[in-house]
Amino acid sequence: MQKVNELLTEESIEASAWEAIEKSIIYYKGRPVGTVAAYDVSVEALNYDQCFVRDFVSSALLFLIKGRTEIVRNFLEETLKLQPKERQLDAYKPGRGLIPASFKVVSDNGEEYLEADFGEHAIARVTPVDSCLWWIILLHSYVVATKDFSLAYQPEFQTGIRLIMEICLANRFDMYPTLLVPDGACMIDRRLGIYGHPLELQVLFYAALRAAREMLICQGNQDVVEAIDNRLPLLCAHIRQHYWIDINRLNAIYRFKSEEYGKTAVNLFNIYVDSIPYYELDKWLPKKGGYLAGNVGPSQLDTRFFALGNLMAVISDLATEEQAQSIMSLIEERWEDLVGDMPMKICYPALEDEEYRIVTGCDPKNIPWSYHNAGSWPVLMWMLTAAAIKTNKPYLASKAIEIAQARLLEDEWPEYYDGKKGRLIGKQSRKYQTWTIAGFLLAKELMKDQSYLSLVRFDQLPSELVSRACEFEINSVDTSISI
Ligand code: GLC
Repeated sequence: MQKVNELLTEESIEASAWEAIEKSIIYYKGRPVGTVAAYDVSVEALNYDQCFVRDFVSSALLFLIKGRTEIVRNFLEETLKLQPKERQLDAYKPGRGLIPASFKVVSDNGEEYLEADFGEHAIARVTPVDSCLWWIILLHSYVVATKDFSLAYQPEFQTGIRLIMEICLANRFDMYPTLLVPDGACMIDRRLGIYGHPLELQVLFYAALRAAREMLICQGNQDVVEAIDNRLPLLCAHIRQHYWIDINRLNAIYRFKSEEYGKTAVNLFNIYVDSIPYYELDKWLPKKGGYLAGNVGPSQLDTRFFALGNLMAVISDLATEEQAQSIMSLIEERWEDLVGDMPMKICYPALEDEEYRIVTGCDPKNIPWSYHNAGSWPVLMWMLTAAAIKTNKPYLASKAIEIAQARLLEDEWPEYYDGKKGRLIGKQSRKYQTWTIAGFLLAKELMKDQSYLSLVRFDQLPSELVSRACEFEINSVDTSISI
């Protein structure tokens, strides 16, 4: 093995990765429309032969960087066609505005069509809340990369964005600015105690609101635009304030009173001291580091660290500059726990013993330190890289890429790794998992040219974008619009 390793140059690893990406492309009526989740012929495909919306984002960003915009455009157009546009009378059918979790090409009598899965076929019938949010974020990346606003300004796309905003901003039972969702509604698509207001979806919600705000034409959408403008500052402040944990905040929470009623309450969510692993956190939290909690709700503060939510909060500018620095300091200080031998842990720490049994429902795939329950997912590497670049700590990304580079090709690009340090190839891990490969290549591209960060960040977008969208007349689509 040692010898094989020595022979592998950076170039040959990248070349093999690209070869695998090419193989993963799905064609529909002769046009590229997406990538399969995994191209692993050694195991039953289940739904891994489908194109997952969340998985495709990594490949799509890579294609945009390489100027291969056609596949991304086709993907956006085809998935938009799958979005239900009418109100649904049958409660078992996907609601208006949703974007599917995945789709596949089906042939019938020589005719090809796309079959979508909105969770109605998925294991445990989980709802893909993140799909519609990622779809808007990706449309925005496409617009930034191609400088071509005309796609987003097309009436079908305006309707698509509007319908997504309508489900997200609809009147609901709860009165938080965050989004109330069922368990397993995002990358972690199994029961893992992330129902309610999980960080990952709140951050994607924030990014999607920002993206929608920049792309929606005001004329005819004034109500939605107003709703976004009202929601954004509240959502942002709520996350920054109530999800934040560092040693100072922990001290404050530790001394919280409970059972406070009325306007003067300090412990707004009535968090009980005994529900929080104070002594572990006291030991684990570095002096300078901090992070956004996994979930906040009534008498609930989930203190697990979730990587996607924290990294995307840094990238999308949801975290303040100071918080972003603290999150990256925490990753640096707790590198062995959060990155270890494979970047990086999906969450930390694992749920163990009775807690694991109760919260996951005894899920054998999510045993402690495996899969979603604190397994290591190489796809997160591009987000780690983007966040490291944004906070001026690119050396963290270089270190992570180096670690991954030494193993990924040899291990045949696994979906995830198990173990406290991420040394074991995941027990039920697929090989040739597309977002593992794309995440690695994307991290490398971001390091080669840091300006690609503009595809996913929101703080530096030309301010004229918003005003332009507002001035834009819905009937006068100018296909030559550029930034
Ligand atoms: C697993 C992951 C999910 C991913 C899917 C396809 O179900 O949990 O996030 O989208 O596999 O790769």
